[in-house]
Amino acid sequence: MQLPYIITVAHQKGGTGKTTTAVNLAVEFSKTHPVTLIDFDAQHLATFFNQRRDTPLPMAQIDGAEAFKEYVEDLEPRLYVIDVGGFDSTLTRYAMIAADLLITPVNTDYMEVASLMRSFTKIIHAVQQAGKPLRAKVLFSRVHPSAKHAIEEAKELVESKGEFFEVFDTVIRYRADYDRAYKQAKSVIEYRPYGDASMEMQQLIKEIDHGKI
Ligand SMILES: Nc1ncnc2c1ncn2[C@@H]1O[C@H](COP(=O)(O)OP(=O)(O)OP(=O)(O)O)[C@@H](O)[C@H]1O
Ligand SMILES: [Mg+2]
Repeated sequence: MQLPYIITVAHQKGGTGKTTTAVNLAVEFSKTHPVTLIDFDAQHLATFFNQRRDTPLPMAQIDGAEAFKEYVEDLEPRLYVIDVGGFDSTLTRYAMIAADLLITPVNTDYMEVASLMRSFTKIIHAVQQAGKPLRAKVLFSRVHPSAKHAIEEAKELVESKGEFFEVFDTVIRYRADYDRAYKQAKSVIEYRPYGDASMEMQQLIKEIDHGKI
């Protein structure tokens, strides 16, 4: 990836795996790229994760939407990973507009996909209207380990709105390692390198960075 590069992890629905995705990506990419983690969620769970690490990742403290607008005008050659809260706000939209890659984690449950199609589409549309040819890359996450058919169905539905969404090939399944790793302030790859969660996260990183890990 060409630096500076901004990955924003966003969805206006709560609890879909945004913070989990953001911290895992930030930690793993920091092994090969200079990374700055940005936490725009009032719950500060990305910060709480990072502060407990032996060597915390650099974090940028940015106070509000206008300050962020200025911040992105003068970026260093780094990867910026932004975790936003599960609600719509001006700051969230700015973080989406600034993104080189917008990752939207969702489950394959019909209600979650329907929520994506009904409300998040409107937000993406507004961002596109602001002049950014941005599409969200949907990451199926917290998916039941044995689900197969549901993934195909959800993928078809999301891809039918191709002007707004793309879909990652990688599927992140529901694995206990995510919560356990968070508790120890580790990525799932650090926590259990040969576990299923680790394998899926490695696949996601490869998919983002075109095979360079
Ligand atoms: N792939 C997964 N497998 C199992 N549990 C997961 C997975 N991803 C996330 N979780 C768990 O689901 C819960 C919600 O995840 P997370 O906090 O990352 O979501 P979020 O989208 O950031 O939520 P919010 O909208 O509140 O910020 C957490 O307890 C987390 O450990
Ligand atoms: Mg979160």
